[in-house]
Amino acid sequence: MLAYLETFGCQANERDSETIQGMLQQMGYEMTHEPSLAQLILFNTCSIREKAEQKVFSRLGTLKKLKEEKPGLIIGLCGCMAQEKDMIPQLRRRCPYVDLVIGTHRLHRLPAMIRNIQGGLGFQSDIAETCEIIEDLPAIRPFPFKALINITYGCNNFCTYCIVPYVRGRERSRSLEAILEESRRRVAEGALEIMYLGQNVNAYGRDLEDSRASFDRLLQEADKLDGLQRIRYMTSHPRDFKESMIDTIAASSKISHHFHLPVQSGSDTILQRMNRGYTRERYLELVHSIRNKIPNATLTTDIIVGFPGETEADFMDTLHLAETVVYDAAFTFMYSPRQGTPAASMPDQIPLKEKKERLHQLMETQAAISLKRHQAMQGQTVQVLAETYSSGILTGRSEGSQLVHFPGPENGAGKFYCVKITEPQTFLLKGEIL
Ligand code: SAH
Ligand code: SF4
Ligand code: F3S
Repeated sequence: MLAYLETFGCQANERDSETIQGMLQQMGYEMTHEPSLAQLILFNTCSIREKAEQKVFSRLGTLKKLKEEKPGLIIGLCGCMAQEKDMIPQLRRRCPYVDLVIGTHRLHRLPAMIRNIQGGLGFQSDIAETCEIIEDLPAIRPFPFKALINITYGCNNFCTYCIVPYVRGRERSRSLEAILEESRRRVAEGALEIMYLGQNVNAYGRDLEDSRASFDRLLQEADKLDGLQRIRYMTSHPRDFKESMIDTIAASSKISHHFHLPVQSGSDTILQRMNRGYTRERYLELVHSIRNKIPNATLTTDIIVGFPGETEADFMDTLHLAETVVYDAAFTFMYSPRQGTPAASMPDQIPLKEKKERLHQLMETQAAISLKRHQAMQGQTVQVLAETYSSGILTGRSEGSQLVHFPGPENGAGKFYCVKITEPQTFLLKGEIL
């Protein structure tokens, strides 16, 4: 039996897809890259912006004919879209050939639901919200040298534009022991790098009774793991990034010197309406402290343009902030209203044309900054963990998470290389093995 799985969205979904594949393997499925060969097709979906959802609906549309030709084919939808309000009736109407909808809290029920469909019970859905954390589900890792490890699930921040707290539920931390145990196991299995995952990793542990469980503490313990070479994490919330965490990172040779600090906007009025919990000034203090303690830190960010009520002056504040911080890279988005979130019903929604213009202007400004930052790397040596190989070129990330391309051997992925930067570009660094 063959299964096809397509993953959209962020690392939370990537990690869930590892579990989905692990469960499918236990059921006797093998994975295929060709949907037309599969008896089971699953989409692990993302709701963050309207475009992400449109992509899934259009992919589902292409399956209608296949399902007519192969009535026994099972088509399922998991991930964040499954958890959206009124998604099931919408799906039943738009894509009645979907057999299965499973929410982000209920992954462990996937095998039972597939068996029910195979047994002729028809459409299955389970989108119940639970706070329970299910440990020890099987998983298949596409990159054994790189471990994605969840530390928290869900989010409590309710940034007013964001759908994640609604589709991923309340913030739940795994126990420190469970995380360290998984870390040890993965390192013993050959992982060289760990990526700790949470929507707000800096808040790790605050919902636990165990007062030792904090992000700081987790980093300090992971830093001691023999054989582990690099520790990364995603995502940080600037409001919860404490001085002590910067000190821990500065004192460690394993914890990445990459700081992804999503600022979202450079305007205090907009930050407040977004419910971000920090001011422009406080954010810049954090940046200053990081640069002070870790001079070679790389800084990246996420920015939304065209949030409701954003004036030209607000937008200029964002542009100037990007120029002040000098980010290595920025992920920039046009605000996309998400049904049920407070910002979607705020007055003064910004017309698409204006959003596009602002996005374009911001991207141009940032591209020039990124190129300049990268050009300063010319001739420098970075440590790269190669992740993929294609046509003679290895691709990986430096200790500062910069994307690096360099000629290397076909079986070269999964190893560290000393790479000298020879050709810096806007979005990547080209180099050669020293
Ligand atoms: N928990 C992380 C990631 C959230 S999603 C964090 O807080 O940073 C990744 C990014 O998508 C966000 O940082 C934000 O910039 C963007 N985003 C979220 N909701 C959005 C929306 N409704 N429209 C446009 N961009 C959005
Ligand atoms: Fe969304 Fe804000 Fe939570 Fe990030 S911190 S997931 S932007 S609500
Ligand atoms: Fe998307 Fe869900 Fe991640 S909405 S960004 S896949 S948490």
